[in-house]
Amino acid sequence: MLKIDNITVQYGNNKPTIEDFNLEISSGEIVAIVGESGSGKTTVIRSVLGLLPGQGKVTKGDIVFEGDSLLKYTDKQWNQCRGTKMSMIFQDCGSMINPNRRIGSQFVEYIRVHENMPKDKAKEKAIEMLDRMRLPQAKDIMRKYPFQLSGGQRQRVGIAMAMTFQPKLLIADEPTSALDVTTQSQIIKEMMELRDKYNTSIMIVTHNLAVALYMADKIIVMKDGEVVDRGNRDEILNNPKSDYTKRLLASVPTWREERHA
Ligand SMILES: Nc1ncnc2c1ncn2[C@@H]1O[C@H](COP(=O)(O)OP(=O)(O)OP(=O)(O)O)[C@@H](O)[C@H]1O
Ligand SMILES: [Mg+2]
Repeated sequence: MLKIDNITVQYGNNKPTIEDFNLEISSGEIVAIVGESGSGKTTVIRSVLGLLPGQGKVTKGDIVFEGDSLLKYTDKQWNQCRGTKMSMIFQDCGSMINPNRRIGSQFVEYIRVHENMPKDKAKEKAIEMLDRMRLPQAKDIMRKYPFQLSGGQRQRVGIAMAMTFQPKLLIADEPTSALDVTTQSQIIKEMMELRDKYNTSIMIVTHNLAVALYMADKIIVMKDGEVVDRGNRDEILNNPKSDYTKRLLASVPTWREERHA
């Protein structure tokens, strides 16, 4: 469904940030990208979304989504794709949501920008999505301003919006790092449920190898713009190639001499 084919990404005339990066994701597959700060994880994700900041550019290779090169997408094609076929969850959805407007009016507008439907229908859909993200009293949430919600609740609003159109690909950059452990685990379970229900493919960036081991089918470990390890969950857990992955693994808790993710 998505093929990142040997891409090199460069900001301005600097040395390439990532070189010869490859990744394939099938329908319903969950792929986690793990790695230290500055290793290029967000750069990979932004390349896929066509949202590299500043002078960032894919200078080599191709990114193919459902048979078409994303690098050749027109603005119109992106508008039809982002938010519907391909959705994004940010680290802090609170910062994406306008603080001066009620959740409901933003959500309804978001829905109507992507799909032509009457206001009351859009409102129903928004409430249904909030319900699905297990936000209690969805109707009340619709009337609230973002600052009246907890960080976890705001994050769920963001995820609810991202899931509205049942995207084929959900891209999440550290979606849970800002949250407490309980909310984190709930949100991760909800994301996995989306995969099970709608066959959504998920590409998730996380600092947390335990989270990656728990949810991902495939794991990529990055360091300094390079892939130092890749494999399925069991390969990474039992047979890591790089010292860096071994060190990351050492930080995942063990119990009775078995590592538990
Ligand atoms: N807008 C930009 N202009 C120039 N260089 C950038 C820009 N954004 C990122 N970089 C460089 O690209 C490299 C990778 O950054 P990136 O944000 O992809 O890392 P990351 O793995 O997501 O890190 P973190 O875990 O801290 O989010 C860094 O060395 C950074 O300096
Ligand atoms: Mg990042």
